[in-house]
Amino acid sequence: MMYETDYREARDNPKAFWSAQAEKVHWFKKPTKVLSQDKNGIDRWFADGELNTSFLALDYHVLNGRGDQAALIYDSPVTGSKRSYTYRELTEEVALFAGVLAARGVEKGDRVVIYMPMVPEAAIAMLACARLGAVHSVVFGGFAPNELAVRIDDATPKVLVTASCGIEVDRIIPYKPIVNDALAMASHRPDSCVVLQREQHPCDLIAGFDLDWKEALASASPADCVPVLSTDPLYVLYTSGTTGKPKGVVRDNGGHAVAMRYSMDSVYNIGPGDVFWAASDVGWVVGHSYIVYAPLITGCTTVFYEGKPVKTPDAGAFWRVCAEYKVKALFAAPTAFRAVRKEDPECALAGQYDLSALTTIFMAGERLDPPTYDWVVGHLKRPVVDHWWQTETGWAIAGNHVGYGLAETKPGSVTRPSPGFNVHILDGHGKPVPAGEQGSIAIRLPMPPGCLPTIWNNHDRFVDGYLSTFDGYYVSGDGGYIDKDGYLFVQGRTDDIINVAGHRLSTGEMEEVVAGHDAIAECAVIGQASDLKGEEPLGLLLLKDGVTIDEATLESEVIQRVRDNIGAVASFRHAVVVQRLPKTRSGKILRKVLRNIANSEEYQTPSTIDDPACLVEIEEVLSKKGLRK
Ligand code: COA
Ligand code: AMP
Repeated sequence: MMYETDYREARDNPKAFWSAQAEKVHWFKKPTKVLSQDKNGIDRWFADGELNTSFLALDYHVLNGRGDQAALIYDSPVTGSKRSYTYRELTEEVALFAGVLAARGVEKGDRVVIYMPMVPEAAIAMLACARLGAVHSVVFGGFAPNELAVRIDDATPKVLVTASCGIEVDRIIPYKPIVNDALAMASHRPDSCVVLQREQHPCDLIAGFDLDWKEALASASPADCVPVLSTDPLYVLYTSGTTGKPKGVVRDNGGHAVAMRYSMDSVYNIGPGDVFWAASDVGWVVGHSYIVYAPLITGCTTVFYEGKPVKTPDAGAFWRVCAEYKVKALFAAPTAFRAVRKEDPECALAGQYDLSALTTIFMAGERLDPPTYDWVVGHLKRPVVDHWWQTETGWAIAGNHVGYGLAETKPGSVTRPSPGFNVHILDGHGKPVPAGEQGSIAIRLPMPPGCLPTIWNNHDRFVDGYLSTFDGYYVSGDGGYIDKDGYLFVQGRTDDIINVAGHRLSTGEMEEVVAGHDAIAECAVIGQASDLKGEEPLGLLLLKDGVTIDEATLESEVIQRVRDNIGAVASFRHAVVVQRLPKTRSGKILRKVLRNIANSEEYQTPSTIDDPACLVEIEEVLSKKGLRK
């Protein structure tokens, strides 16, 4: 495979390029339409093709001689348990759980919300939905009841699937109270809830509503794969937007399967029988694409890890798992490696394990800072590949594609666009800028297979948020530049989204939650640089006139509000009271200059600012509290 040839072919002749890639997946009915437009005028891939994603990920391999190969290896240092499922075993479990769902009335097109920790049953539930043509929506276990409720109301699931608890390093998180609170908040009520009882913390079940996973499975009949159209939705995954309401990114079946299969070849150079480990969580897009779907569709063994990079039990956890299962490629967020470096600066623990099977380390989810890159390459002495993508695209927009042969790397660059992604840097008027100049990173339409065709229940939000800024382009929300050699540099979001420990969060949403406190008139939440997590939120609070409240009390109350409403995962730990917030004359808060101040970066006083003196005040307040980086 030649990168240049494929890039050109995918750009200039997308139908021929993707038609050839579509040959690599098994269709019940082969598509005749490769690229067409739907009723909204959106590009759709393989519209008249029929397939089933669960069949591709499971049955296909059993029918083609992989029945006895390990499909999924569950490794859980937090519970001290391990289990391996062959393709045959996983197929049988998924078919049975699909039978459980079918018996609860779940049919093609129905939604099922899955709120689970990193247990194999989460993948089984996802694949069981796919088997029935039902649409799953997985909600990350670190989210609070309100976040779950918002997703339940938007997805209106027929069934909810959960577990009795999740397990963090130092504590058990009982899930059932969270689910019950979410159901009390939501307007929509599913017909039933399937609960996986975990021995670490079993929960009470509500008679007539809750169903014990194991009991339900014991009496279930296996369900067959239901053929779906390529364009039928496989899942909805909610991700942070700039407001309090998350966006339901819709993924189709056909384009997704083709993109997953192609990316395993081209981006990762991983084939059938290889062991692949994405150390993420099924609640995020990395988990959907590279813990569950891409490795299984490809016939790999996927590692399903319930633990952390550190403290479970130590900073050698990654190396232990890689050695134990002969992992060929490891994929994690840079934050995870920063956490390992903090605990084991010389990477001594890696020396205790046989890492000879490990060929490549992949990173994504947030900017890979050069010191982290250098540390990993220096100690592991293997290629480290940075690749850039988003929930919306489902796979890498750009990277250093191992399947095409690694290109030379440049510090801070995600290397080159993936074939199919026609990436441009545009100025504020939508005009391409010269090489080296910064602008908005945009993708010329059509987007390749696998990318979102809409936002669930809100097509206008899709068009307004992504397609209407620049005619003929998808706007990524990231800023950056392409240098004269065609290397892409991603410099960060141009909106109110921040990346905390590889988790995508909305500062706009945090502001809504913080501003709900009785004492607060107005607030700004900004992303501040963090050595460990990349970014962390910082709140600047303006009190209502006449309110007197102890600042430490207020800070702990707003921190608790964010934990209660969004979840601990927001890592909202600091808030300070300020006398004024910098604003334009029309009243818009100047967040960029606040970020500059909090990060001790040089800044120019914005010409539009109403009251420049407030900047000095804010510098002083943050310095006094030791909150300037
Ligand atoms: N369920 C419940 N709570 C969760 C959770 C989950 N699934 N995941 C995280 N949390 C909680 C944590 O326990 C922590 O709570 P605390 O504030 O009471 O300590 C809080 O959310 C913040 O979590 P996190 O930001 O993950 O910090 P941490 O200190 O627990 O761990 C790292 C730090 C670096 C080890 C961890 O963030 C990590 O492994 N990051 C990689 C992320 C990743 O894989 N991202 C996916 C994109 S590829
Ligand atoms: P998510 O949708 O959670 O995957 O987050 C997507 C966002 O994470 C992107 O829009 C980027 O801002 C950021 N991101 C992901 N990967 C990278 C990367 N390799 N380099 C820089 N930023 C990244």
